[in-house]
Order: sequence, then structure tokens, then C-alpha cells
Amino acid sequence: MPRAHIGLDRRAVVGPVRRRTFGSFVEHLGRCVYTGLYEPDHPTANEDGFRTDVVELVRELGTTTVRYPGGNFVSGFRWEDSVGPREQRPVRRDLSWHSLESNQVGLDEFAKWLKLTGSELMLAVNVATRGILPALDLLEYANHPSGTALSDLRIANGTPEPHDVRMWCLGNEMDGPWQTGFMTADDYGKIAARTAAAMKAADQDLELVVCGSSGSGMPTFGDWERTVLEHSYDYVDYVSCHAYYQVHDGDLGSFLASSVDMEFFIDTVLATADHVGHKRQSKKRMNISFDEWNVWYLEEHKASDEVNDEWRHAPRQLEDVYTVADAVVVGNLLMTLLKRSDRVTSASLAQLVNVIAPIMTEPGGPAWRQTTFHPFSITSRLASGEVLRPVIDAPTYLTARHGEASLVDAVATVDGDRAAVFLVNRDLTENAQVTIDLHGLAATRITETLTLADADPYAKNTLADPLRVVPTANTGAALADGVLTVELPPVSWTAIALG
Ligand code: AHR
Repeated sequence: MPRAHIGLDRRAVVGPVRRRTFGSFVEHLGRCVYTGLYEPDHPTANEDGFRTDVVELVRELGTTTVRYPGGNFVSGFRWEDSVGPREQRPVRRDLSWHSLESNQVGLDEFAKWLKLTGSELMLAVNVATRGILPALDLLEYANHPSGTALSDLRIANGTPEPHDVRMWCLGNEMDGPWQTGFMTADDYGKIAARTAAAMKAADQDLELVVCGSSGSGMPTFGDWERTVLEHSYDYVDYVSCHAYYQVHDGDLGSFLASSVDMEFFIDTVLATADHVGHKRQSKKRMNISFDEWNVWYLEEHKASDEVNDEWRHAPRQLEDVYTVADAVVVGNLLMTLLKRSDRVTSASLAQLVNVIAPIMTEPGGPAWRQTTFHPFSITSRLASGEVLRPVIDAPTYLTARHGEASLVDAVATVDGDRAAVFLVNRDLTENAQVTIDLHGLAATRITETLTLADADPYAKNTLADPLRVVPTANTGAALADGVLTVELPPVSWTAIALG
């Protein structure tokens, strides 16, 4: 049986647990909005047409910020279409997802929905096919209290209080040839800088996110960040990272080590950003908004998507059904974001409902938790205070995609006399025996243990069997003389709360 030893030192603080690490993402794509969170005819719908069964699950998931309305969608979006009397809102073609957008849910409705979930709104503006003025208009509509044309329009539309949106994305994935209006780094850097400067002239306290790379495998990765930041460094506060992972050719070992790539991605972007900052002799430290991350079977989903030459409203798209192994990777990616919470200060699991999502719904039917729901909701609930950098002494294994990877990964958080340890075992067949030295932590007892594992790493939750995979107590965990021992099943994710 593989054995691992983990040392925790109360003084080895990475940074605070940032609530924005537990952000998510709602895009007008497939059934995320329509028949996902919004379905006026559903038995659980409230007076605004929102499914309250979904609201309950989103609350349980523990999301904090929610990025909206895209994604690729934003690059063809006119925000004005989605406000005001619903019967006057136009139906438009969304070229990025080849579907029809009814605009029945827009900014004001979505903000109202977010209040039910207790989350913060993060908005993206269309810099790809529009420009500075529409971005400023949206900012005025969303945030200005009253007494101007667009703030008074918002009030007339039934939203008296400003939305007070703090975080704004300057477009989406502008490096990707799939993006409507994609640009070179030089072109995008200039337009992002000008848009950001104008938005900050309206409100200097906005937190602006400039587009970084759509993945560490992009041919322009690195150069993109450098060029974009050379133009925009003084005006923006975050550079974005997006990363999606999946099993390739049945290589589960590589897949389980996906967080190695996420670490590389974060380190490289920070090195590049710091290089640009240093050259500019800037006192500002650029942080990362990891505003799209998840497991996504990008190629495989195409077979099940209801997208063809027809233009349809809310077709089934990107409705990945996640396995236990996928959930272990999602849990591990979230651990990695926590480990870099000194500089990764905001993140968004992409997405929230139906579209590569932890929550699934059937029109007129139930809503349920995918496997990936569990590590996210448990981590959001248990992680608090400060993140500790663990010293991990564990066997390694060689992966085809990510080189050498540790069989066991871990991170811990501490908050007064409470602590939480999050662990993964990447071994495909064997339990891992782990000892964790808690010296220096005030915690004296285990208050909760939860492990997500299954004899079948490909087990899933489905409409027919929505509770096939649920976390269970890890009854083997014990704490004695400041040392926690726990046995981790193969391909598993575990959380241990201490008090
Ligand atoms: O999350 C799905 C899509 O992935 C988003 O629209 C886009 O930004 C990314 O390519």
C-alpha cells in the first residue's frame, strides 16, 4: 500500500481563503439559463419564473461570485436587447453556439436570481464586436444610482437599486479563433486598455479582468499575456486563465494529475505578469482570475449535442455527465486554486447548471447533483481562514501528459481552532495510507470526514439514478497525539474537518 506523510505548519500560510475562489459561471448557452435556472412553467418556479429547486442546490453548492452572461456568447451580445419590457425584447441568433436567444432573462432578472442564491455578480462586456461606448453604457445602466439616462432606464425597468457590480471581464477568450471577433494580442491589448481606462474613469474602484490565454496549450500562450499586459497593465487588476481537462485515450493516470498543468499555467502567467510589471516599474501586483475551469469532454459532447443546421432555442449542449474520476479531478483543481490563493484571488467553475455543470435539470422534472457537485460544495463549506502550504512526502508516478506526479495531493486551511484538510489519492488500484502531522494546529478532534470514491471510477449520477455517487464518512480516519491518520481509497477525494 502506498504511504504518504504530510507536514502542516501553522506558520506556512499561503494567503487567506478567498470566498471568490468558489465562484461559478452562467452563460446563455444550451440549457444553462432556459430550463436550467429559469423555467416559468416548472412546478417549483417562483413568481419570476426561476426554479427554486435549482436555487436550493446552488445555495448548497456554495458559489460566491457568478460570471455572466458568457463566455463565447458575450462576443455577439447586445446588452440592450435583454432589458426592459420582455415582450419587446428581440430574438437574436447566437453565432457562437448556433442557437436562438430570446432575451427573456437579462441583467435585471439574473441579478434578482443571484440574490436568491446569495452570490455576487461578475459581468463580462463585449469588446470583440462592440466597443467602449456600449461597455460604458452597460456600466451606467448597472451601477449608476439614478439621475442619468441609463440609470433612470434601469429604475423605470423595475430595478431601483444599482447592481453595484465590482468585477468586470473585458471580453472573453480573445486569443481563440473560435471567438466571434477574435484579435491578435496587440489589437486586443490596445482595445482592452482603452476600454479599461474609460470604465475606470467612471469608477476607479472597479476590478477589471483582461483576457489571458484560453488554455496553456494555446500556440500564443505566454506571448499573449506579455503583449496584452504591456498595453493594459496600468488599467486592469486581473489577468484571466481558462483551463478544461478530460481523459484522453483512456489515460486515467494523466487525467488524475491534471492539476500539475494548472499549477504550471498559474506559475507561468504570474511570472509573465510580474516580468511586465517589473519592466514598467509598477507597484501593482497583477492577480489571476481563473474564470473558467472544469472537466469538459470537448470532442465527445458533440455527438450528443442537439445542434445542427437549425436555429433552436436552448438546445441540449455540453451536457457532460460526470464520473467519480471527474469529481476527484475537480476537487483536486479546487485544491490547487486554494494553494495559490496568494495570487489567484478569484475563480469560476464553468459552468453552473446543465452546461458542463455540477447541477443538472430536466424540463418539468427534477434537479440533481452531479459527482462534481460534492467536492466543490464540501470545500466551499469547510475551507475558511487561511490556506496552509503542506509539505507532502509521497510516492510519485510517471504520467504521459504531465510528467512526474505525486500519488497523493493535499492542502489545508486553518481558522482559529478549526481546520480542514483536503486530499486526493491518484492511485488507480490501491488505497493510500496517509499520516498528517498537525503540530502547531490547535485542532484536537475530527469533526467530519467525507470521501468521494467508488469501486467503479466511471460511476455517474443520472436522471434515472441521481444518488448513485454520494460522499460517505471515512470511518478509518483517526487523530492521536497531533497526528491524523487516514486511508484513502483509489481514485478518491477526501475532506477532513477538525476542531
Ligand atoms: O464554458 C464553455 C465555453 O468555454 C465558454 O463559452 C468559452 O469561454 C470557453 O471556450
